[in-house]
Amino acid sequence: MTANKRIVLSSDHAAIDMRRAIADHITAKGWEAVDIGPQTPESTHYPAHGEAAARRVTSGDCALGIILCGTGQGIMMAANKVKGIRCGVCSDVFSAQMIREHNDANMLSMGARVVDTPLALEIVDAFLDAEFEGGRHGTRVDMIKALEA
Ligand code: RB5
Repeated sequence: MTANKRIVLSSDHAAIDMRRAIADHITAKGWEAVDIGPQTPESTHYPAHGEAAARRVTSGDCALGIILCGTGQGIMMAANKVKGIRCGVCSDVFSAQMIREHNDANMLSMGARVVDTPLALEIVDAFLDAEFEGGRHGTRVDMIKALEA
């Protein structure tokens, strides 16, 4: 894994408590949590938060990103519009491992109305503990990158 230990965290209003739990969890694992909010519970717009987190990753400021909304779907769609982002929604541990090992995902999305916080923390662990395998998977990820050209 990269020497950059910074992980950007963002969400909409539906996932503030889960986001804070994840921040504490990854900090305890030795990562630096870069929590870009929002910090207050007013209804807000997930595309803006997905984009803001994605740009922290593509700029190189953060190595990885974890984003949350009610389902994890809308904020993932927004993040994936930023060139260079590969973000998957996960509600199970296996998928979280696979999006790193096979898809070289640089962002993880989850739904706070889909998974509870204990499961979300397990999913985060699987995502962070996995490594991209390269090889034939690198060929396929390069094909994804080509779609952005
Ligand atoms: C907000 O109510 C909700 O639409 C949002 O959190 C998310 O689930 C969208 O994909």
